[in-house]
Amino acid sequence: MTQDELKQAVARAALNYVVDGAIIGVGTGSTANFFIDELGKIKQRIKGAVASSEATAARLKSHGIAVFDLNEITHMPVYIDGADEIDASGAMIKGGGGALTREKIVASVAEKFICIADGSKLVEVMGTFPLPVEVIPMAQAVVSRALKAMGATPILRLKEGVPYVTDNGCFIIDAAGLRITQPAILEQQINDLPGVVTNGLFARKGANVCLLGMADGVKTMTF
Ligand code: A5P
Repeated sequence: MTQDELKQAVARAALNYVVDGAIIGVGTGSTANFFIDELGKIKQRIKGAVASSEATAARLKSHGIAVFDLNEITHMPVYIDGADEIDASGAMIKGGGGALTREKIVASVAEKFICIADGSKLVEVMGTFPLPVEVIPMAQAVVSRALKAMGATPILRLKEGVPYVTDNGCFIIDAAGLRITQPAILEQQINDLPGVVTNGLFARKGANVCLLGMADGVKTMTF
């Protein structure tokens, strides 16, 4: 099975977690895109969705799925999204696609986070994937120095030679070379740095369920 086929399999399996008549939170990235395409097939079962990025909102709308503003929502049973890395406790690194802040905001409203990922995303210790940190542009240098003091190699994310700008008008620093043994503590420490909007560790509130695509089928992990 190719990586895309594994992503497709978990996207399909995630439909079992969709609650009829509800508004569901939808993540960003290639796995989330497969999920949106599956969701389009059963769109009559749901009221609509809240998107974690402009790109996701556009894809949902292209399927005729109603997209709600998070400010209109008080109840969201599930949020479904991919991850760049996930460990055995359900803690994740997210933000490879740059949508970490909106993902964390939408996920915070949901009762359950359903992570959908191909098997390569499951790791023993997180940090091989550089940790994305979204920053207010004027804080880029000071936050980079602080990340360096924490043992990371900070790299400003670029797109076509200029800083990558998020949906929130901010920059992303990718913190490489970390060995994240205490993700919840590191999540808090980095978020406490002035100028940081949020970082891609989802550990204090991690996944509740992970659907992992393996060669021999979809494995369900619950946390
Ligand atoms: C988007 O900002 C990310 O958090 C994605 O959820 C994560 O990068 C996983 O993306 P893929 O599904 O494309 O691997």
